[in-house]
Amino acid sequence: MRIGIPAETLAGEKRVATVPEVVEKLIKLGFKVSVQSGAGDAANCSDDTYRAAGADIIEGAAELWADSDIVFKVTVPTSTEVELMREGGVLIGFIWPAQNPELMQQLAAKKTTVLAIDALPRMLSRAQKMDALTSQAGVAGYRAVIEAANVFGRFFNGQITAAGKVPPAKIFIAGAGVAGLAAIGTAAGLGAIVRANDTRAEVADQVKSLGGEFVKVEYEEEGGGGGGYAKVMSEGFLQAQREMYAKQAREVDIIITTALIPGKPAPRLITAEMVQGMKSGSVIVDMAAERGGNCELTEPGQAVVKHGVTIVGYTDLNSRLAKQSSTLYANNLFRLTEELCKTKDGIINVNMEDDAIRGLTVIKDGAITWPAPPPKLPAAATKPVVAKAIAPAPAHGAPSAPMSSTKLAVMFGVAALFFWVIGANAPAAFLGHFTVFVLACFVGYMVVWNVTPALHTPLMSVTNAISSIIAIGALVQIAPPLMGVGVPRPDDWIRWLAMFGIVLTSINMFGGFAVTQRMLAMFRK
Ligand code: NAI
Repeated sequence: MRIGIPAETLAGEKRVATVPEVVEKLIKLGFKVSVQSGAGDAANCSDDTYRAAGADIIEGAAELWADSDIVFKVTVPTSTEVELMREGGVLIGFIWPAQNPELMQQLAAKKTTVLAIDALPRMLSRAQKMDALTSQAGVAGYRAVIEAANVFGRFFNGQITAAGKVPPAKIFIAGAGVAGLAAIGTAAGLGAIVRANDTRAEVADQVKSLGGEFVKVEYEEEGGGGGGYAKVMSEGFLQAQREMYAKQAREVDIIITTALIPGKPAPRLITAEMVQGMKSGSVIVDMAAERGGNCELTEPGQAVVKHGVTIVGYTDLNSRLAKQSSTLYANNLFRLTEELCKTKDGIINVNMEDDAIRGLTVIKDGAITWPAPPPKLPAAATKPVVAKAIAPAPAHGAPSAPMSSTKLAVMFGVAALFFWVIGANAPAAFLGHFTVFVLACFVGYMVVWNVTPALHTPLMSVTNAISSIIAIGALVQIAPPLMGVGVPRPDDWIRWLAMFGIVLTSINMFGGFAVTQRMLAMFRK
């Protein structure tokens, strides 16, 4: 099948749906690729580089759309573009079906199949490699910090020079989702003091691990609305949050707002009075400008100065880093194409039994299939969300509800009976080993349960290394008997096996400690 890459027509859009490096991979999957002449110019991808990668360069948009079985696009297609599309063709890109009902009707009338990358079920871990919303928000969060640095009159990091002492810039990030976390990492990397707030308390660890400080709103309310998204908060919470934000506005130099609740207008977090309370020369970057803005004084698409504060409301942060955004987007679409073409023969199969593909497919052969039913998640992934919505989450490591004394007595009774049966029937040595085993399970459980989730990977690698204690058993087997005392020398084959065990466990041991070191280094500044 032929994949077509048209030039984006939205004013100011500089991204392109694929880049030359990905064209090569698509061709290896068995596809032919056509690119409209000049489509990648603004993203530093010239026609020649596409040609060298194996793509055909087509002069006009009409010819490209008509010739392509599948079209990859970045922005929502215009109605003129849909008219150019071939009947029964496939379109993959941002569609936002809820906001664009007329476009959906027009696409359905052309008997197309449409995969909306914005409809990807993000909670499926398998879908992460295709998650263009995440890749684009990450780039935008980075760029928001660069835009702030561009208009801010000082360094981000503190410096002591012969010419004087410069304090580090203080940055407050409102909303620690994908864009917010990228902004925290970037600003901390540039040496600023970074604080952040989010209604979802579970992101506090991520904020800390990226070098930021999580600032809590003094009001108990769980902010998770399911699937990692936020919910609309109560008026009491919002009042307490406004007070905290007003205090931060007076203290910090830069505010970057990224707060978003899916399907709702952007929450108003920064009022005109808060802007007035900021120091002259301060900066606000409002990433939610396109959805009405998190700041009352934002003008979408503009950078304006109000009360001495520069308020940046650019809505094209991704286009301002077009090459990077396009490369990540192209990789997301390539991963999706791999899922669609498992046979690697250049023919796609839109498998509606596959949860990720089903979620993305908003029109199948002219029939509107949006919205998709919720994907089947493993029980563990869905349970905590429901539990949180009903009752406040218990502190990590604390029991969720006290057990009744009768239940506890029955459990101990059964355990005692079990041990008695084993003690009466099994060999004497077994009971000793078994008791140690049960106690080890208990201690291991208590240790792991009390470790912060962010540290689970280093913990896993260190326990992996410790489990290499079996090396001692192997060494005992391999060692010669001590001066005629001790156990007799084992058979050669046992000693060879022990030798093999030592080699294997050494990999576990040294590898475990090496991984632990690398993981812990990520948490050190
Ligand atoms: P996300 O859904 O991953 O993160 C949004 C975060 O805001 C969530 O963590 C949520 O808990 C938090 N939040 C919601 N209500 C809040 C409140 N009242 N107070 C504090 N936090 C609150 O979204 P993502 O992908 O990080 O995008 C962030 C924003 O950036 C969106 O508005 C998106 O449209 C915008 N964006 C803008 C671009 C531009 O060029 N200006 C480019 C890409 C994204």
